[in-house]
Amino acid sequence: MKGIILAGGSGTRLHPATVAVSKQLLPVYDKPMVYYPLSVLMLAGIRDILVISTPADLPLFRRLLGDGARLGLSLDYAEQPVPNGLAEAFRIGARHIGDDSVALVLGDNIFHGPGLSTELQRHARDLTGCVLFGYPVRDPERYGIGETDEAGRLLSVVEKPEKPRSNLAITGLYLYDNDVVEIARGLEPSARGELEITDVNQEYVRRGTARLVDLGRGFAWLDMGTHDSLVEAGQYVQILEHRQGVRIACVEEIALRMGFIDSAACYELGLSLAKSNYGRYVMDVAVGAS
Ligand code: DAU
Repeated sequence: MKGIILAGGSGTRLHPATVAVSKQLLPVYDKPMVYYPLSVLMLAGIRDILVISTPADLPLFRRLLGDGARLGLSLDYAEQPVPNGLAEAFRIGARHIGDDSVALVLGDNIFHGPGLSTELQRHARDLTGCVLFGYPVRDPERYGIGETDEAGRLLSVVEKPEKPRSNLAITGLYLYDNDVVEIARGLEPSARGELEITDVNQEYVRRGTARLVDLGRGFAWLDMGTHDSLVEAGQYVQILEHRQGVRIACVEEIALRMGFIDSAACYELGLSLAKSNYGRYVMDVAVGAS
């Protein structure tokens, strides 16, 4: 399975914080926002990843993440000049996907909870159709919403419904089989002029091959589109990291635990950041694993 991180858009709701820098590079407590979605793909066992962003921001992502080799990954980059919609990722990324399946994650989403890695790896292994991840929210009119029957079967997906029939938001993590490339190619722009991910999902529902996994209330899913949600996400990470003494979305630690790099390489990565607590944490993790 290939991975795509979509980290474009204009971030206008966060102006002026995002006038000069991409939203997905802003710090969420101790690390850049993009580390969180990157860590989700890594936990799914995905190592071949395309980062999509604006022409202005792409060089910054490249500077931060490079070719991925130091994390045992293969990272590639592609431009999305205009935010034409989330589903454009499958047109831009068609060559990267090839004849494989693909996981798309939005660059401003945080997923944190028990069993995420195992659950993702299980779905990634033999995927037919698509797997969407639902999460109960208080304000369903702000999201793509999954409508289910009494048995929890997915009946339809509606983007930002005025009268939501459930409170189950479709989160920004999507697993698709290779059909997504052909489906995205055939899409027409919506009324707001975008290639909607919801139309892709709706097509899978129509084909009867869409599955919805409810992440449930014990899980944390955060998206960061406003000043408040950005601060709240930072506080969430800070509180858990202080309390537990472990770091969320530490990509060096994940690379080590997933077997992408060995402890010596992990130690070197920590050493290069040794003036920060983050760097010292990476070194401690490496020593603990050697
Ligand atoms: O966060 C989950 C929600 O994401 C889903 O529930 C919705 O179904 C889905 O449409 C999307 O809704 P948003 O209102 O959050 O979409 P937004 O336009 O804000 O884009 C989400 C992120 O993707 C944002 O960080 C900017 C980036 N983006 C957006 C567009 C439209 C791109 O990189 N390229 C784009 O073309």
